[in-house]
Amino acid sequence: MTFEYDAVIVGAGMAGLRAALEVAERGKVAVITKVFATRSHSATAQGGIVAPLGNEEEDHWEWLMFDTVKGSDYLGDQDAVEILAKDSARAVYELEHMGVPFSRTTDGLIAQRPFGGHTRKHGEGPVKRACYASDHTGRVIMDTLYEQCLRKCITFHHEWHVLSLLMNDGACCGLAAMELATGEVHIFHSPFVMLATGGLGQIFKTTSNAFAGTGDGFVIALESGIPLQDMEFVQFHPTGIRNMGILISEAARGEGGILRNDAGERFMERYAPTVKDLAARDVVSRAMLTEIREGRGIGGKDYIHLDLTYLGKSLIEERLHDIASFVRIYLGIDPAEEPIPVHPTCHYIMGGIPTDIDGRVLRDERGTVAPGLYAAGECACVSVHGANRLGCNSLLDLVVFGRRAGISMADSLHDVRRVSPRPDAGRDIASRLDGLRSADGSLHTHALRQSLKETMMENCSVFRTESSLNRALADLRGLRDSLSRVGQQDRGMAFNTELTERIELGHMIDLAEVIATAALTRRESRGAHFREDFPHRDDADWLRHTLVFRGPDGLEVRTKPVTVTRYQPKERVY
Ligand code: FUM
Repeated sequence: MTFEYDAVIVGAGMAGLRAALEVAERGKVAVITKVFATRSHSATAQGGIVAPLGNEEEDHWEWLMFDTVKGSDYLGDQDAVEILAKDSARAVYELEHMGVPFSRTTDGLIAQRPFGGHTRKHGEGPVKRACYASDHTGRVIMDTLYEQCLRKCITFHHEWHVLSLLMNDGACCGLAAMELATGEVHIFHSPFVMLATGGLGQIFKTTSNAFAGTGDGFVIALESGIPLQDMEFVQFHPTGIRNMGILISEAARGEGGILRNDAGERFMERYAPTVKDLAARDVVSRAMLTEIREGRGIGGKDYIHLDLTYLGKSLIEERLHDIASFVRIYLGIDPAEEPIPVHPTCHYIMGGIPTDIDGRVLRDERGTVAPGLYAAGECACVSVHGANRLGCNSLLDLVVFGRRAGISMADSLHDVRRVSPRPDAGRDIASRLDGLRSADGSLHTHALRQSLKETMMENCSVFRTESSLNRALADLRGLRDSLSRVGQQDRGMAFNTELTERIELGHMIDLAEVIATAALTRRESRGAHFREDFPHRDDADWLRHTLVFRGPDGLEVRTKPVTVTRYQPKERVY
């Protein structure tokens, strides 16, 4: 089938839904999503969304801007960070007015709590800035945004997998997607396509990300000639449940939880004397792994304790309800009685599809706009998070820049040049899918996927070196060669999850190569990218964004400058 819309949004997380609400005011919009909309990964966000409301103590947008720039290790573009910080209070009140049931202070105001890297007076100590709904903030915001979308009669294509963008002369004019229930390929014509497909954590062995987080949106952009920016910056959240990666929200430390090593020592006092356990995530994850490497993990093993025992049952039940239940279910322990075994878990990618401050995708280092193509949310890089994102800045990014992209598309509807896709668009995609569906071979997608996750975890995670990155790239080349020997057991059309996983595997290998290549190129340490062979930040050579292009001879890396306005780079001390 062929569908016609004024705008098509790929991804039904917070960025996609927030954008859709804007376009729906003035045009016909569809949201295409690989999972049922409210199962999008945004719904798993636990800890909160930041805004300097000052409900619990003094706060200002300038302090939020400073913390975000410092947290980004000065790689965030400060014009974009300023927009994020200035718009934050409006964005949170807007959510409140839509119906989000935030937790409250005793005076009935939106309650706020401290979060990593968020400080008062430019670093003097932690500040209560994260607005939350217990520890299921993402769930309630998603439900509210989805209700608003239903109210505006926005069309959803739930459980459709986008396969490729339709481009004509450099402009995006639609996309091809597979309906998972039937296996059929459908064409969408639209003058605007927005990618809001979320992250790619599934390429690492240990991750907090949902199974759908395989990075599809990044790759369909790359295949259409769009570069990917700052992809070497992958965030490991300090507190994943050991061996599982399931997130234990930073809110646990915001509410007073403490990380302890085998000796029971609060070791973060040594690494971040001012804010301790509430330092930025890159700092805390490296500190934990350093303790483990130096033999101070619990019982000499590869984990650390997160101690909530002295917070008391009632606070844990009221403010950390979901994580207490995860810990009971998955570990069989009561966090009010016993410490939680934790290890850093892949959580977020700071890099992504480069955009301007209104979500328009940029196709090169000169800032040339790719007409018709937008991106927002985790798959995009505007760039507000630079080399390391602060906790609770993600939800803010989604609603602030999702809204801006939606407004920009809606504003341009009346004078957009509608470009038609090639008449045969979609035919080659359907035949490529048929080829994958009927492939014979002795290898299985699942086994290759596991190897990919292991090599990325081993060689390209928190600590990296030139030789570890070269090992990762060699393994990835081997995996790519193996793809032609993958056999397909399920040849059916309806809900062929084996086929979906095979498509995703191709995307995951592509992205892993982009990440390892960017990480090899950046010969310094900054934020979440720590090169043991280049352990210092090098502003003279590397206060720059990387852009990875797919060229005829493979991946090519170029760079572009960082926008610095108010805050000159300084040493980052917490
Ligand atoms: O720890 C958390 O609740 C995660 C928040 C975030 O990634 O922003």
